[in-house]
Amino acid sequence: MSHYFENDINLKSNVRELSYKYNSSFFTFLSDNGVFSKKNIDYGSKLLLETYLKEDNINNIKVLDVGCGYGFLGIVISVITSSYVDMVDVNKRAVHLTKRNIKKYESFKGNTFVSDAYSEIKNKYNVVITNPPIRVGKIKLLEILEGAFEHLEKNGTLYFVIRKDQGALSIKKILEEKHKVEIINKDKGYFILKVK
Ligand SMILES: C[S@@+](CC[C@H](N)C(=O)[O-])C[C@H]1O[C@@H](n2cnc3c(N)ncnc32)[C@H](O)[C@@H]1O
Repeated sequence: MSHYFENDINLKSNVRELSYKYNSSFFTFLSDNGVFSKKNIDYGSKLLLETYLKEDNINNIKVLDVGCGYGFLGIVISVITSSYVDMVDVNKRAVHLTKRNIKKYESFKGNTFVSDAYSEIKNKYNVVITNPPIRVGKIKLLEILEGAFEHLEKNGTLYFVIRKDQGALSIKKILEEKHKVEIINKDKGYFILKVK
């Protein structure tokens, strides 16, 4: 069986449209077989997004969404906060969907491209945001989380979501060795962490 983060070119396409409303803004996203949360927008992603959108100083900044899937987090963030958002994923189909989804939003500023974690990232950002892949294992997960600090401006912030049963507290402890880590929201077993 293939995983959502693998590039399985033999997987039959079955494009569907998902919708999301934030205050008075209405969004739609094309999703497909072979990408994460293809049938519904993930609850953890929504909690991460809605928690992030309540933070201070998030307008007109530079944001990187790592593991963007079909572009849910990055597209909404760019449209709502007028930020420049780059979105990367190792999964080519996810990046292809994100490209199609971006086209629907004239006010979107940013780009999307294939990257294994930060391998293709040349810029620095004020924020790195991620609903990280868990099934890739702890080493890759920490590469994505710890690696954010090489691509953040001074005083930049990492935001991510992780479930308690996926090891939220042990990951928090590891990050605390080098960083200031806060749990800024939790619901239904999902923790939203802010790392400086
Ligand atoms: C939990 S999903 C989140 C997807 C999307 N951000 C959302 O909220 O719906 C994690 C994403 O990370 C991607 N991914 C897995 N390994 C990766 C890697 N090494 N580098 C970049 N992205 C990766 C997967 O393909 C998947 O799209």
